[in-house]
Amino acid sequence: MPGPRATAAAGSTSRLGRWIGAGVLIALMAGSARDAHAAAGAGGSAAGAAASGPPFYASFLKKPPTAAALTALGRELFLDPALSASGRLACASCHDPAHAFGPANARAVQRGGADGRQPGLRAVPSLMYQQNLPPFTEHSFDDEGDDGTDQGPAGGRMWDGRAQSAHDQARAPLLSVFEMANASEGAVVAKVERAAYAAQFRSTFGARIFEERALAFKAVLLALESFEQSAPDFYPYSSKYDAYLRHEATLSEAERRGLEAFNDPARGNCARCHPSAMREGAFPQFTDFGFAALGVPRNAAIPANADARHHDLGLCGPLRMDLRARTEYCGMFRAPTLRNAARKRAFFHNGVLHRLEDVVRFYAERDTAPQKWYPRAPDGAIEKFDDLPAAYRGNVDELPPFGRRAGEAPALSEADIRDIVAFLNTLTDGYRVPAARASPLSR
Ligand code: HEC
Ligand code: HEC
Repeated sequence: MPGPRATAAAGSTSRLGRWIGAGVLIALMAGSARDAHAAAGAGGSAAGAAASGPPFYASFLKKPPTAAALTALGRELFLDPALSASGRLACASCHDPAHAFGPANARAVQRGGADGRQPGLRAVPSLMYQQNLPPFTEHSFDDEGDDGTDQGPAGGRMWDGRAQSAHDQARAPLLSVFEMANASEGAVVAKVERAAYAAQFRSTFGARIFEERALAFKAVLLALESFEQSAPDFYPYSSKYDAYLRHEATLSEAERRGLEAFNDPARGNCARCHPSAMREGAFPQFTDFGFAALGVPRNAAIPANADARHHDLGLCGPLRMDLRARTEYCGMFRAPTLRNAARKRAFFHNGVLHRLEDVVRFYAERDTAPQKWYPRAPDGAIEKFDDLPAAYRGNVDELPPFGRRAGEAPALSEADIRDIVAFLNTLTDGYRVPAARASPLSR
């Protein structure tokens, strides 16, 4: 069945190619905020920048701030709990720098809001390796492929791709009632004006920056956005697998077998959506940024799910509004990177699984042993894909490793599962290259 991602091209990076070399680094190194903004645009905010006319700093900043100054300021803002209505919640509370910018705990959803007690609706994603995230599109193509097959929706920020840029994106948590819950943009600016780093803010954006509340708020977003583009923090490529790709490390037998099972179209077929191979000299992101419905089990630990009528359908709502009529998209979420996934303790958009091994086993057994993953209806039937209304269950991906019948042998053996977990552990940043192997060119 041809269609979105029908081809099991092991290790091929479907949508990634054209976003490589977006110039983010070069632009940031050039030290100009204008370039930094444009470069971030290549990763998502081009449309936003165009819609809002000339970049704001062009009109009010005498000298553009350097990327280094923006990044340093962005880091302060990111870590500052005073920027929330409760005074206790920073971006870093949910996106902990010590946990690959994901949550430090195993909870499915985190709490926020004005009283710090509003439960969120989705698991907190890592913010790493998003520098090449393309803007959302309904029609993506694999530019390496020769057939020009439409691979369907891809890109955009958030699990449902609804935020187009880091800029849009930073605004949301600052004002969201579930997160930092500030009453207004002005309220955020007033807090920055009182912060210890207010002087740094003035020296970066100009002595009179706080006089123009709207511009000062944009400056806050620009700094956060610049920080999120900081390579050493957000895309260091310092895992064992990266060292292996640089010929500075050797995979263990289990890790090597895991990589093979991960790529093998007849077994894991994971690289279909989480590409693992280098492409045009660029290291793999372990996501093609495409959307798929996996039919993961409903998670009763999310308070909103106490209401049986609540369904998080990803692309077709309810958090995302523009594609509500596109019922063929219901249940689809953006494939996350698997880099640093081994450090997570709540997996999938609803945080329903807590061990990496169980995630891999879910892929193996979803269709062959559904009774292990889904509840039974009163009549005894297994309620497969119980987090989706029956009308949308046909949207769920059925290609390998999925698509077998109950009772058949799974595509992955228990040994394959262990090996894939061993391999996924090589994707954690911070690997120390053995001194004897380190090349003079390595960072
Ligand atoms: C209360 C927890 C919480 C706080 C605080 C928080 N976030 Fe998030 N963040 C989330 C959740 C949950 C999502 C996913 C939401 C969704 O998909 O609907 C998310 C998504 C994101 C994304 C998109 C990631 C992706 O995979 O596309 C970015 C970027 C981001 N947050 C940045 C920030 C910044 C910057 C701040 C501070 C201004 C912040 N967040 C504060 C919980 C939080
Ligand atoms: C059809 C595309 C597709 C294939 C094939 C696929 N994945 Fe995924 N993967 C996704 C999507 C989409 C999600 C998010 C689904 C959700 O949250 O509802 C995901 C989520 C994950 C997660 C959770 C990451 C996190 O941050 O929560 C892991 C781990 C993972 N996949 C590993 C694998 C492995 C291992 C394989 C092969 C056995 C594989 N995937 C095959 C699309 C795919």
